[in-house]
Amino acid sequence: MDFSIKAFDTKNTITSAKTGCVAVAVFENKKMSQAAKALDQGGEITAALKSGDITGKPGSTLMLRGVSGAAAARVLLVGMGNDQTVSEKSFTSAVTATLKTFASIGATDAIIALPMTDVKDRDVSWAVRCVVIAANEGEFRTDAQKSKKDPAPTGVRKITLATDANAQVKATLAQSIAIANGMNLTKELGNLSPNVCTPTYLANTARKLAAEFKFGVEVLERKQLEALKMGSFLSVTNGSEQPPKFIVLKHMGGKAKDAPVVLVGKGITFDTGGISIKAGPGMDEMKYDMCGAGSVLGTFRAIGEMGLKLNVIGIVAACENMPSGRATKPGDIVTSMNGLTIEVLNTDAEGRLILCDALTYAERFNPAVVVDIATLTGACIVALGHHNSGLFTRSDDKHEALAAELLAAGKQSSDTAWRLPIEEIYNEQLKSNFADLANIGTPGGASVTAACFLENFTRKYTWAHLDIAGTAWKTGAAKGATGRPVPLLATFLINRT
Ligand code: BES
Ligand code: MN
Ligand code: ZN
Repeated sequence: MDFSIKAFDTKNTITSAKTGCVAVAVFENKKMSQAAKALDQGGEITAALKSGDITGKPGSTLMLRGVSGAAAARVLLVGMGNDQTVSEKSFTSAVTATLKTFASIGATDAIIALPMTDVKDRDVSWAVRCVVIAANEGEFRTDAQKSKKDPAPTGVRKITLATDANAQVKATLAQSIAIANGMNLTKELGNLSPNVCTPTYLANTARKLAAEFKFGVEVLERKQLEALKMGSFLSVTNGSEQPPKFIVLKHMGGKAKDAPVVLVGKGITFDTGGISIKAGPGMDEMKYDMCGAGSVLGTFRAIGEMGLKLNVIGIVAACENMPSGRATKPGDIVTSMNGLTIEVLNTDAEGRLILCDALTYAERFNPAVVVDIATLTGACIVALGHHNSGLFTRSDDKHEALAAELLAAGKQSSDTAWRLPIEEIYNEQLKSNFADLANIGTPGGASVTAACFLENFTRKYTWAHLDIAGTAWKTGAAKGATGRPVPLLATFLINRT
């Protein structure tokens, strides 16, 4: 989809706009938006409302042709609910309905003249982002591995957003498009089958991104990981035929002396559970266990496209978690890069085993902050369902500030997180009789003990952990990666510039 912004005013009127379709809002009390009023010179919209052909309920639509007050071929009336307060939900359903209609009409260009500035508690930037992300969602295809491709998108290909085209709004449009493209990469990687999307594939994707956007890139191989003494990460790869890859991307868009933000992604390209093997049903979905890594790569695509003026390092620890005669066994004790020994009581708690070494590696960048992103625990879905990612930080002032920043970025981008605790007391649950730490806690609070396990490896910097087990993909008929939390991460980074 091609987007632009245009302000319509008394000289440059919406009535004289030559386009395939103009979408305007009508409300449940039969009132209409300013743009609709302007187009209603011949009374067609009033008549439509009177007749009850459109109710004004959020997401209802009625297409009119030959509206006498409009130079446009069509006028799409879109229900927007209550005219006093346009809620975020009403606006979103109106946008979804508009785009759905646009996709099935015989026009290639259209204007969205919905009340973008009137959404309660939201600004026009939010509304612009809402349209761009929704349009992108509608066009996304999952046919990469189908022999017969799905039909290409039809209908409207060019959307003009009718709103004040100030610099801020224009910047938001560019950022929204970059975020949408970043989300697409994250989704594509997540959806690819695990025999294709291997650690090597992720490394090659990072290399391609680096070439396209002039990022620095480094891919550490097994030998180098051994030299770094990443005994914990490597223990997860023991059962796999696929070589592990430790990927580092560098975008130095800020001042040379500025400390970077470091993003660390869990890149388990398939999680069988290892010797502590998972149950069969639904195991295919463990191809999504690299979505943390995918979100780091997607966020890098977004910041590359934006040319973000900030120093950002991306780290992806990628491997498979497989059972075999050489696989790590429950009870094995491994030594992590920072020297702590870990008793692997459950080989299915592998995410923390790869992340702890990646988090130790992050120290070398003297980071401003480190954020790790991981499909870490099924328990996070139990706690928060599929709406919020789990956010964990320590509770001193610096970390409270970081948590607030991330929560705000989530709200701003409609990619929300909810905070869960990290407290010293939970470390009791991770005690081992034979090693410094066990890799699972005693029963209860599995997402919290997982976060607390990671906390042990992050004491040299300010750090946050995002558990995206419930938000990275959808199951069931709509199975597919969501592209989350790229909007949250990208917005967080934009807000730091
Ligand atoms: N990748 C899984 C977590 C997961 C499971 C995410 C289901 C989304 C859906 C992770 O590696 C894992 O297996 N975690 C275990 C931890 C347990 C052994 C303490 C879990 O959540 O069951
Ligand atoms: Mn696992
Ligand atoms: Zn996993």
